Amino acid sequence: MQYRPRRLRSCAALRSMVRETRISADSLVYPIFTADGENIKEEIRSMPGQYRYSIDRVGECLEEAAEAGVKSVMLFGVPSHKDECGSGAWDENGVIQRTLRYAKREYPQLYYITDVCMCEYTSHGHCGVLDGETVDNDKTVALLAKTAASHVRAGADMVAPSDMMDGRVGAIRRELDENGYINTPIMAYSAKYASSFYGPFREAAESAPSFGDRKSYQMDFHNINEAVTEAELDLAEGADIIMVKPGMAYLDVLHEIKQRFGRPTALYSVSGEYSMIKAAAGLGYIDEEKMICETAACMYRAGADILITYFAKELAGFIKRGLIG
Ligand code: PBG
Repeated sequence: MQYRPRRLRSCAALRSMVRETRISADSLVYPIFTADGENIKEEIRSMPGQYRYSIDRVGECLEEAAEAGVKSVMLFGVPSHKDECGSGAWDENGVIQRTLRYAKREYPQLYYITDVCMCEYTSHGHCGVLDGETVDNDKTVALLAKTAASHVRAGADMVAPSDMMDGRVGAIRRELDENGYINTPIMAYSAKYASSFYGPFREAAESAPSFGDRKSYQMDFHNINEAVTEAELDLAEGADIIMVKPGMAYLDVLHEIKQRFGRPTALYSVSGEYSMIKAAAGLGYIDEEKMICETAACMYRAGADILITYFAKELAGFIKRGLIG
């Protein structure tokens, strides 16, 4: 036999020599929830090991992340006050703005990305302002731009709009530029699907819609051409990084977008993916460590340049120990 593919699999040194996908902790992003209030470190019921922190305690989490070797975090706010138009989102003293001022001062070694959306701040839980029972795209876009600028003013290094309104990347770019933030990048949630994988997040962020669903703005999970169009539009509007979300079940979409555009592409492995692994491991059905490593490696193999994951700290540790990488 001339070709024996098994030859290159015969020992660990050789396997790691010919490995096609290299993983580095530099590309991991860890999502963190901060809430209004004091002395809070509250475990999220459906996401064991993930917590909501008040600002006075979020340092514990930032320190753990930095110590594990994670370099970047993504911040989500859980405000105590919500209203019809989500005014807490762009409040200079809102939960995210205060978190940023504190975190940038105390933990300047980390890179701070903020999720830009209204759903945590609206009383109805939709990702924008309502006109009757539908989300008004253009009114929402103006408020998102205002929100993004207030995040950057408070210290955000990058903003990541997750609302799925049309034209929001362009509007945010213009607003940032007009405020002098020409070098602040935008990571667009370009192909964000209406997904039941977000269930645990909505508990964490208290952001479940009070009526209806998000199908009139987030994408239909049957579609992939539409994801390409969304990414193309976001790039044309000035997105620096494009994102696919969820992760695990959407790797075909990630692969297609990476191949087509060749631009920096992020994958968000979402709350439901975390919870499934945690729950199955808790029942003793799967090996948690191996499952975390395998799923992450497959996400990079499919084309992710950046991985946003609740397992970021664990993964950074596994990479250090040589379990993947
Ligand atoms: C806000 C937002 C959501 C997620 C990220 N940003 C929830 C949603 O769209 O309902 C989901 C993240 C996760 O499930 O981990 N719009």
